[in-house]
Amino acid sequence: MSLLQTYARYDVRFERGEGARLWDDAGNEYLDFLCGISVSSVGHCHPAVVAAVREQAGRLMHVGNLFYTEPMERLADRLTGLFGGGEGGVFFTNSGAEAVEAALKLGRKAKQGGDVITAQGAFHGRTYGALSATPQESKQAPFAPLVPGFRSLEPAAIAESVDSRTALVLIEPIQGETGIHVIDDEVLRAIREACDRVGAALIFDEIQCGVGRSGTFTAAEFYGVTPDAITMAKGLASGFPMAATVVNDVLAEGVASGDLGSTFGGGPLACAAGLATLEVIEQERLVENAATVGAFLRYHALNLGLGVQGHGLLLGLRLPMPAAEVQQRLFARRILTGTAGDPAILRLLPPLSFSQEEAQLLLEGLRKSLA
Ligand SMILES: Cc1ncc(COP(=O)(O)O)c(C=O)c1O
Repeated sequence: MSLLQTYARYDVRFERGEGARLWDDAGNEYLDFLCGISVSSVGHCHPAVVAAVREQAGRLMHVGNLFYTEPMERLADRLTGLFGGGEGGVFFTNSGAEAVEAALKLGRKAKQGGDVITAQGAFHGRTYGALSATPQESKQAPFAPLVPGFRSLEPAAIAESVDSRTALVLIEPIQGETGIHVIDDEVLRAIREACDRVGAALIFDEIQCGVGRSGTFTAAEFYGVTPDAITMAKGLASGFPMAATVVNDVLAEGVASGDLGSTFGGGPLACAAGLATLEVIEQERLVENAATVGAFLRYHALNLGLGVQGHGLLLGLRLPMPAAEVQQRLFARRILTGTAGDPAILRLLPPLSFSQEEAQLLLEGLRKSLA
């Protein structure tokens, strides 16, 4: 096979998806509690998203960023409204890491030469800026030297370390990849105050925890803390590559032509997929569903004697045995789940449309897999 072996892939080839189900090339059905790592939030191949992409593909697929298109403008308006941080503006890209890069650049530009503070336990992506903000030895060391001016601290120590040299603090309100660590709301509030004191930007990376997954549209909303910018990706366009860096007026004011750019970012197909995804989330009340089914899962997982971390349908179950082993046992039962940096954590990221009946199937599979 000609693929570089950059992933430990499962020995399965998927052909089709619908809602929370996937089918492999032998026709076997799987229950998807992973969602392509937090991506297929409205379920696989939601008919409204499929129709929107088909329609847009027949009308206009690409024109580039030297021109306006209606899907791009509409989606930008929707996202600034949902962000709740003022008029500001949106920069579209194609992946989470690029959205983080744009946020880093805008934060740095607003306070030139300033330092970047990140949280220990963070994951922000694999490109050099995002990697420099990802304080994990195994991911960083082979690729040194990294971008200068980054340092990582325990989340609780960030506020007191923010000073006049700080350009920005970049933080996931709920850390996903490393094990669904919920940052304390007092800690986030203190960071917000510290950033305000010295004129540093506070950037929330909501690439994994955002777009309804935490039981509110943004995790920021859940915390009641408004950052200066939010990065979104994954669940934004149902699997179509799409990311957004949504910023407030202050950061938007500093943006000049040529600061950021992307050939494909904000393309009509991606934006049509994004608009349709947001519409489904709203019409089917999927944020509320994430909160309700998430609470159901939490309650029953606690009853199984497991520790539960996270909010909504971004959950980490702390298991009494290696999560990778349980994940394999669930896979044998055709249930897809995720692991995380913490080897005891089983990561659950089902579609936001997940039903309680589907959650019961997972709980049943878990009960048997833990036995
Ligand atoms: C919080 C967070 N930020 C950034 C990224 C990087 O996103 P992408 O893989 O789309 O570049 C991820 C991906 O897992 C993530 O979870």
